[in-house]
Amino acid sequence: MQSQATYNYKVVRQFAIMTVVWGIVGMLVGVIAAAQLVWPELNVHEWLGYGRLRPLHTNAVIFAFGGCALFATSYYVVQRTCHTRLFAPGLAAFTFWGWQLVIVLAAITLPLGFTSGKEYAELEWPIDLLIAVVWVSYAVVFFGTVAKRTVAHIYVANWFYGAFIITVALLHIVNSMAIPVSLTKSYSAYAGVQDAMVQWWYGHNAVGFFLTAGFLGMMYYFVPKQADRPVYSYRLSVVHFWALIFTYMWAGPHHLHYTALPDWTQSVGMIFSLILLAPSWGGMINGIMTLSGAWHKLRTDPILKFLITALSFYGMSTFEGPMMSVKTVNALSHYTDWTVGHVHSGALGWVAMISIGSVYFLLPRLYGKTEMYSVKLINAHFWIATIGVVLYIASMWIAGVMQGLMWRATNPDGTLTYSFVEGVKASYPFWSIRLLGGVLFLTGMLIMFYNMVKTIAGEKAYNAPVIAPAAAHA
Ligand code: HEM
Ligand code: HEM
Repeated sequence: MQSQATYNYKVVRQFAIMTVVWGIVGMLVGVIAAAQLVWPELNVHEWLGYGRLRPLHTNAVIFAFGGCALFATSYYVVQRTCHTRLFAPGLAAFTFWGWQLVIVLAAITLPLGFTSGKEYAELEWPIDLLIAVVWVSYAVVFFGTVAKRTVAHIYVANWFYGAFIITVALLHIVNSMAIPVSLTKSYSAYAGVQDAMVQWWYGHNAVGFFLTAGFLGMMYYFVPKQADRPVYSYRLSVVHFWALIFTYMWAGPHHLHYTALPDWTQSVGMIFSLILLAPSWGGMINGIMTLSGAWHKLRTDPILKFLITALSFYGMSTFEGPMMSVKTVNALSHYTDWTVGHVHSGALGWVAMISIGSVYFLLPRLYGKTEMYSVKLINAHFWIATIGVVLYIASMWIAGVMQGLMWRATNPDGTLTYSFVEGVKASYPFWSIRLLGGVLFLTGMLIMFYNMVKTIAGEKAYNAPVIAPAAAHA
């Protein structure tokens, strides 16, 4: 545990704990929103109505849960792979407290109904300014650490984290441009279809960089570490890095099919989305094949199960996404629960599972323990979470395709076969199954919280040795 004296783990610990805490909060809000769709009478107050809780859920899970996981792992990985302490530790501490303040402000303002109305960028301008300051500080700490590294090489995980940090700064600043009219209200600097285009350039790259590139950075460090194998192909990692970041930038218009956006722009978005399958699968294959020669570990190591299952869901959602971007497929899937199923196969299956696996890897190391308090509980968490995701996404796929088909069905005389409310009625059983899936996933997070507290408290004597670090990278 000599490393503890060497590296700055305080900020990593803080972010790691808050990953689990915000994961529970954000998913609880998701479960409540899912329950409100089954029992509308649960919309007890306007502050806690579905319309207010939905953006609270998305902000909490993406920026609070996902964001804290990204901060924690990037600060850990950049120190370990650059063989140096964090640059500007005071600024790193500021990023922690500043980010928590952003989250708390979001949790207050969104239920009160203060919103810019842009999906995943709902927060009003004073909070946007705070986000920009925290994010630029994050960039200074991260790149400062890379700059003062004591090894020549910059390990590929840092490339992904670096691209994520730079791009999110660019996306956030450009998309949040607005004219304030009061402390709590502003209007976008863009108008009409330009506003929509900028918004979905932001929205899709938020998926590509916030929900993908940073988590690929995680994958490139924690999968080889936990498998105790070098990355399958380092060359592939570099090729798919450049291909991924180039291609993602152009795919945004697939969110605006059949809108006022010029048709050729929609086609460009579709084509780049189809191309995106290749680099996405390059990353997935590189991660999974890192297990070559170590497949047997999957039987006994629940952390590896989380990491590899995450990659499988990554592969699934990045196959599904290009398919949904085809205009004729999107004509069926758009506005339906199919999109929600796709979102959660990426968000729960990929983002949450890779984060959970990485945090289980980190916690004992951050607190000087040889392993988590209970490996059995990690295993239980894995199975409960996997069943939860499968129930969630399978029910949404069925509901989505059913809704799309019902909405487009016509009688021989040209009238609609089903009224909209018949589609809603037919969706209820699937919304109940989604709720069950969500409750299971949340239960897994509560088990993780218990395991985390027990590990930190160190109430148990450990009997298994820590897994040896992977070859080239500390
Ligand atoms: C090759 C990769 C991917 C492509 C081409 C892709 C494509 C798409 C398409 C076509 C839609 C539906 C747009 C609509 O009809 O409104 C969509 C929605 C969405 N996807 Fe993906 N997807 C990909 C990967 C992912 C991953 C890995 C995640 C999550 C980690 C994700 C998160 C989302 C979200 C959040 C939405 C919903 C946006 C909204 O309407 O609010 N996607 N994606
Ligand atoms: C217990 C787990 C979860 C539950 C029960 C849950 C539930 C929900 C519900 C009910 C919605 C609204 C769906 C609709 O409008 O019909 C939603 C939307 C969304 N959730 Fe979750 N969620 C969970 C976890 C997550 C996680 C971990 C993430 C991201 C890392 C996430 C990201 C999103 C996004 C991006 C949307 C918006 C989708 C869109 O606009 O198409 N969720 N979730």
